[in-house]
Amino acid sequence: MSTEIILRYIHFICIFIIVGTLTAEHLLLKKTMTRQEISRLAKIDGLYGMASLLLLAAGLTLWLGSNGKPAVFYNKNWVFHLKLGLFATLGILSIYPTVFFLKKRKGDPAETIPIPGKVFLLLRLELLLLLIIPLVAGLMARGIGYR
Ligand code: HEM
Repeated sequence: MSTEIILRYIHFICIFIIVGTLTAEHLLLKKTMTRQEISRLAKIDGLYGMASLLLLAAGLTLWLGSNGKPAVFYNKNWVFHLKLGLFATLGILSIYPTVFFLKKRKGDPAETIPIPGKVFLLLRLELLLLLIIPLVAGLMARGIGYR
């Protein structure tokens, strides 16, 4: 099996984990939650973070590691740069919920905490970006946007 196929496999598995964890977070989120429940969300969010880093590592290696297509195929493709921008936006959007979960999980496990509407909104925006990125990925992989 070639390195490229393994990298692609890792890239896809990470995407599945990211979609799964974000969907789980969204389904578990309630207007008020105990610190114990928030702690569970923080663990799921940690898995999401690790999968994002591994996805980035696999993506960077596919791009710059001379596996498959040459780096210039991606460097000169504005759709690929759009994909990177969307991924960076995804990362930025996830900062507030992550920090919120990490801060609020500490303390009395039975204490109830109100969840700000911003956390719901940001998770939904992240899920929306996850719907768009695969389309952009499919386009750039076929050379659409190459200049
Ligand atoms: C949530 C984020 C991401 C999603 C959903 C995603 C999705 C995908 C998908 C679906 C493909 C396969 C495209 C195809 O063969 O038709 C792909 C390939 C690829 N991705 Fe990603 N990706 C993400 C992040 C990244 C990042 C951050 C990078 C670079 C740092 C990256 C670099 C690549 C490369 C180089 C390929 C190979 C494209 C080719 O076959 O020429 N991806 N990605």
